Amino acid sequence: MFLSTLVGATSFKFFSRQSNDLDSFISKESPIALQGVLNNIGANGSQVNGASSGIVVASPSTQDPNYFYTWTRDSALTFKVLTDAYIQGNGGLGSHIQEYILAQAKLQTVDNLSGTFASGAGLGEPKYYSNLTAFEGTWGRPQRDGPALRASAMIAYSKAIMAASGDNHAMVRDVVWPIVSNDLNYVAQYWNQTGFDLWEEVNGSSFFTTAVQYRALVEGSNFAQTVNKTCDGCTSQGPNALCFLQDYWNGTSIISNINLQGNKQRSGLDCNSILTTIHMYDPEGGCTDSTFQPCSSRALSNHKAVVDSFRGNLYPINSNLAPGQAAAVGRYAEDVYYGGNPWFLCTMAAAEQLYSAMHQWSTTGSITVDNVNSGFFNDLVSNTAKGNHASNSPDFAKLTTAVRNYADGFVAIAQKHADNNGALSEQFSRDNGLELSARDLTWSYASFLTMESARNGALPQSWGESRANSVSDSCQASSAKGTYTKATATSFPSIAGVANGKGSGTGSGMAGATSSAAASKARSFLRW
Ligand code: NOJ
Ligand code: NOJ
Repeated sequence: MFLSTLVGATSFKFFSRQSNDLDSFISKESPIALQGVLNNIGANGSQVNGASSGIVVASPSTQDPNYFYTWTRDSALTFKVLTDAYIQGNGGLGSHIQEYILAQAKLQTVDNLSGTFASGAGLGEPKYYSNLTAFEGTWGRPQRDGPALRASAMIAYSKAIMAASGDNHAMVRDVVWPIVSNDLNYVAQYWNQTGFDLWEEVNGSSFFTTAVQYRALVEGSNFAQTVNKTCDGCTSQGPNALCFLQDYWNGTSIISNINLQGNKQRSGLDCNSILTTIHMYDPEGGCTDSTFQPCSSRALSNHKAVVDSFRGNLYPINSNLAPGQAAAVGRYAEDVYYGGNPWFLCTMAAAEQLYSAMHQWSTTGSITVDNVNSGFFNDLVSNTAKGNHASNSPDFAKLTTAVRNYADGFVAIAQKHADNNGALSEQFSRDNGLELSARDLTWSYASFLTMESARNGALPQSWGESRANSVSDSCQASSAKGTYTKATATSFPSIAGVANGKGSGTGSGMAGATSSAAASKARSFLRW
């Protein structure tokens, strides 16, 4: 008895010391990451001279690699993060968000090698010059996730300001809806066509793309109603996209790329799927398999399969790690881009999924261990019994503590390989952990911020998952032809319930800006 108490006390100290270190890293890194994002946004970001207002540059690096472009995907994911921060009280971000939306209205109309604006096809162009002109070099195009992610980001902001004041509805309808509508039309028209994956390498169907398209269609259909508009394509195509999404599941893991054209066969285990799960997270949802929620059996089994694919000899910095110990995570094992190393944003996503799953277990009140996810749990707590573990049971406490420590382990890896000044690049060396490829990658900073929110239990908005997760029996390979109209608003009228974003600070560096009324009202109103 004495001995076990002593052992318990010792190991408690050890864990609390470890997590104190991590806590202090996270609180130090947090403002650095936010500033890192803002530094890469035009027109005033300190690292991106010449970028237009509201434009997110992927990284200030201009060679090896040259990332001084704006990607629709990276930008939308970044602005979703900034919108969450705005909702959580950083009102100074409002002006950046409005500038982003206005910049996207212009970018949508730029004809390019993916196609014209009039046909909608141009919206699938992955990247542009940071002065809003078309990039006409060879590239993996089109990439069909961009419009969907952008629609979700703009809807998130719209919901936040409408929650702050009913007076903002008309403004959202007049300024934001026309832009969102183009993106939703694109998704409804093209979701069932192949394109390049988020890594811009393989042409086919990508799990990430189909999932983010589905989420956008669901949000789009709700959003249209709120502003007295319609999105018929959202309603008709949504169920088909969800049905198709099920095809990526093989019983144990997600095969991230299917219907591949050409001969680039891979195992299919890919951080694509973990990024998808964190994007599909709905804090009001349960552990639903069909939408691959963070705590779903499928997503947990897949988490293990993907993380395990980076163990063994692949990355020397991961050698000697047992299953259940956090590992550095890359895009996919066969990757060779800049040496095919671990990525910060993938390692962070592996943590984020687990923090979000913990929140879901606590709201649903239990953890269910079943045939699909038992491998995941057994790596953390051996001989975990199958069945339902209620939140007041010792097993629940054991499992959640283990999951939390496991998740923290991924963040500790990012901590270990971050620069001393907190800078985060795209990759870190599989051999010695040193930072590689693009420096100050906007998306790396953004991924830190969403991980941090999830760890703190700061919830993202609901996207309506709980009313949109039942899969119809038959999948239709269909499409709804869209119309594409130039959005004409060139500014936002002032927002009710908020000292207009412009007033609360313009320019770069607004970390720690004061809360606006809209942001704080919106905080307590995360759903419509
Ligand atoms: C650039 C892309 O951004 C990257 O994802 C890809 O791996 C390389 N091109 C090689 O195709
Ligand atoms: C390469 C990545 O593969 C892609 O996902 C990203 O959009 C670009 N780099 C820009 O960060």
